[in-house]
Amino acid sequence: MKDLNMDRGALDPIEVASRDEIAALQLERLKWSLRHAYDNVPMYRARFDARGVHPDDLRTLADLGKFPFTVKNDLRDNYPFGLFAVPRDRIVRLHASSGTTGKPTVVGYTANDISTWADLMARSLRAGGVRPGDVVHVAYGYGLFTGGLGAHYGAERLGATVVPVSGGMTERQVTLIEDFGATAIMVTPSYMLNILEEYHRRGLDPRQSPLQTGLFGAEPWTNAMRLEIEAAFDMHALDLYGLSEIMGPGVASECVESKDGLHLWEDHFYPEIIDPETGAVLPDGEVGELVFTTLTKEGLPMIRYRTRDLTRLMPGTARSMRRMAKITGRSDDMIILRGVNLFPSQIEELVVATGGLTNHYQIELYRAGHMDAMRIHVECCPDSTDELSRAAAARMLHKRIKDVIGVSTEIDVKGPGEVARSQGKAQRIVDNRPAG
Ligand code: DLL
Repeated sequence: MKDLNMDRGALDPIEVASRDEIAALQLERLKWSLRHAYDNVPMYRARFDARGVHPDDLRTLADLGKFPFTVKNDLRDNYPFGLFAVPRDRIVRLHASSGTTGKPTVVGYTANDISTWADLMARSLRAGGVRPGDVVHVAYGYGLFTGGLGAHYGAERLGATVVPVSGGMTERQVTLIEDFGATAIMVTPSYMLNILEEYHRRGLDPRQSPLQTGLFGAEPWTNAMRLEIEAAFDMHALDLYGLSEIMGPGVASECVESKDGLHLWEDHFYPEIIDPETGAVLPDGEVGELVFTTLTKEGLPMIRYRTRDLTRLMPGTARSMRRMAKITGRSDDMIILRGVNLFPSQIEELVVATGGLTNHYQIELYRAGHMDAMRIHVECCPDSTDELSRAAAARMLHKRIKDVIGVSTEIDVKGPGEVARSQGKAQRIVDNRPAG
């Protein structure tokens, strides 16, 4: 794989500071953030008062546990600007979720927030091996989604040459990567697979592409998928995490020298892991729901925001800041099938490991009589399209899922191109069960 220059001298001092220094900075910033929210956002003031807590009650980081949680519905209930902590004319940018159901969630940034975001995205790119002067191809969607613009300003801040392609028009993606000599790409992992297909369709060897590294995120993906992308393009594939409510991409990012989970940029976001049932704070190392408190956000401070993402915290390695493990799934994406809990990522690992199948898959839930049932639609490889190979691959995947996860599923092996492609975030679950 291509060698990337790891210049630790270019890091922000806080990335390699001692834990004590990080904790001291967090405490000081946390006090400011609680005070800022309490003084300027009626919802926070009412919630803190009702709970009998005041920003002055925070003396240690652990005291944060006394404060109430915030959830996605709080943003909807205060649509559109009710949670902003500064007058509207200090907000220089709005983003919003697409909101498939109900009202979208709206987020706002001051000029300082936008600048911090660019700094943290630049830090994430550097962690992923991108350097000033690199050509960065941004194929995350531009618009209300935070992916495109978040990546864009970070790459500019780092001093790279940014190509703002956005999602879609896959043929043109390949042309521009090749013609402009993109050394880095930012795109959802599922869309990267479409780009790979386009390379093959054109008879181009992706291993000869100029790409050296990529920052992939916005949706769950597995280490198995990482290895596939790395082998196919002879490049590094790093995980990039974020969410609009907290900032956008660049809340946490993987380091190319360790590839061992995502370093959380703890100088701006304070992470906690809680038991999703009881809300109790769990010790580092235990899996639970990730909760964030913003430490420096002016426009939209978030206090103990429940992300619904499931992961665990681990000590720092390539940086002093703690890492989070790859997101195993969202609590709302968990499928409970005849009493067995499972996540799409577990299916993905087994699909990728099964010979004769590609990693284009979708999980359909349906009702069979009174029982919930699951069918996996997955494409065969172009060289294994005959009936015998398809049946063998289906049997193998069925057996693996039964052995590893413990449920029986129907496997539908489709021909090349027959599973719906994503242009951004992939839709992995199609729920055809009757409502109610
Ligand atoms: O997806 C921000 C983003 C853009 C992150 C580009 C990375 C790259 P939202 O649309 O608000 O923001 O969706 C946030 O997406 O709570 C996770 O469930 C999921 N997600 C984001 N990154 C990852 C990742 C952007 N690396 C929601 N792994 C989050 C797993 C991810 N899930």
